[in-house]
Amino acid sequence: MNEQEIQANKQRYLETCRQNIHRDGLERLLSYLETTDFYIAPSSASYHLNEAGGLCKHSLNVFETACSLYESVVAPALANPTTPFSENISQESIAIATLFHDLCKIKMYKPSERWAKDVSGHWYSYPSYEFQDDFPFGHGEKSCIIVGWFIPLKQEELLAIRWHMGMFEMSEVGSSTRHAFRAAMEKTPLVALLQAADMLAANCMEKVTKWK
Ligand SMILES: [Fe+2]
Ligand SMILES: [Fe+2]
Repeated sequence: MNEQEIQANKQRYLETCRQNIHRDGLERLLSYLETTDFYIAPSSASYHLNEAGGLCKHSLNVFETACSLYESVVAPALANPTTPFSENISQESIAIATLFHDLCKIKMYKPSERWAKDVSGHWYSYPSYEFQDDFPFGHGEKSCIIVGWFIPLKQEELLAIRWHMGMFEMSEVGSSTRHAFRAAMEKTPLVALLQAADMLAANCMEKVTKWK
């Protein structure tokens, strides 16, 4: 992503936040993001959008995917009497959950240079990222904490952000955590919506740059 694209995504991110979120603390959270690498950080070290500006772009992709999934799938399902849910989810909650779900990745990927050999045996260098977590608090858990420093979160938003890794985390945990994950899914449709939007954005929309 070039500098122009990064700046355009930053403006689009700020507008999307301000258009959809009207909660105390939003401006303080956005001011905090200015002091971090959020707008230039990658979304991952080796997978989806592993390039400068990837984290902001991914957050926008998840927001847009969640909005279209809400319109096409979730809203009609919630209007049907067979739904297990009695409460709808707000556009503001969808925006908060999606736009802030990966704030845990702030200050986590340090730019570095790596070396590899090409097919002729010549060395070449390529840009990379080294993983370094200065506040190892868990993935979704850490995002909840960071957002909570600035914005009072509703229970459904906390649950969606906390559990957004879904089944990816489940193979490593005990039965009480698996039970809590299942119970969170039953509390609000926002948990499933964020997981689905995150998975689709990361795997169907976002490129992976391979250097070797
Ligand atoms: Fe994530
Ligand atoms: Fe994500």
